[in-house]
Amino acid sequence: GFVPMAPLLADAKKDSYAIGQFNINGLQWAKAILAGAESQQSPVIAAASDRLIDYLGGFQTVVAMMGALTDELGITVPVVLHLDHGLSIERCKKAVDAGFSSVMFDGSHYPINENIDMTKEVVAYAHAHNVSVEGEVGTVGGIEDGLMAEIKYADVEECQRFVCETNVDALAAALGSVHGKYKGEPKLGFNEMAAISASTNVPLVLHGASGIPDEQLQRAIKLGHAKININTECMIAWSDACRTTFAEQETAFEPRLLLQEGLAMVQATVEKKIKQFGAANKA
Ligand code: 13P
Ligand code: ZN
Ligand code: NA
Repeated sequence: GFVPMAPLLADAKKDSYAIGQFNINGLQWAKAILAGAESQQSPVIAAASDRLIDYLGGFQTVVAMMGALTDELGITVPVVLHLDHGLSIERCKKAVDAGFSSVMFDGSHYPINENIDMTKEVVAYAHAHNVSVEGEVGTVGGIEDGLMAEIKYADVEECQRFVCETNVDALAAALGSVHGKYKGEPKLGFNEMAAISASTNVPLVLHGASGIPDEQLQRAIKLGHAKININTECMIAWSDACRTTFAEQETAFEPRLLLQEGLAMVQATVEKKIKQFGAANKA
């Protein structure tokens, strides 16, 4: 079965490494993530973005698919099945009911008091079912729902209040990271990061980590980031490889062959990030 995220993040924070969250983009993609984590002997957070739940076949399909895959592939490393950017309290509850072991409630677009109240309700429900909860303060930049979100830095005091009042297991404090590609160098707020980590004492989550240079990732891990979210790097590795295959194999038509190199690159990217995060052999 899937494991809750909280104990894994506590271990990671204590030993200064981070567990990778990799987003699922379909069954074969999920297989590549699980195989990558198994080969590195790393715990893994397999995430379904709420915006992709319908595309993936629904909450129950995701749970059944991930459960069967971990069983039949003989996966031995701890697997967290996580709802990424949960869009509402109701959808977080649906994920818990379906069998997810962790949910993120993304209340970052609400005023802080509403975000706290809504996150609290998700925590009450999730914790009663042994499910972990991640909350978000501030706004991660980049494309969300086809719209450009402006970066809004998390406020130190709001983070402290948020964690204290909601009792979340992990905090995504937006500090300049961006979903998707960066235009120029990312500028993470390391001073705020240090203050938030010290005052909340909860494992931090880094969203939009694709494209962040290694030196900044290592600093973020040292300052309490125990979960790092990667999606775009896997998608670019996959699409680049698939484009090459399609161009080279003009007469091929079998998906298994056409998508094989792309999926191998997803697994290779997962393995590379796990090593970079220091999570190899931590299972
Ligand atoms: P990237 O796509 O930039 O890696 O961000 C992933 C993410 O934050 C998923 O929640
Ligand atoms: Zn994110
Ligand atoms: Na990014």
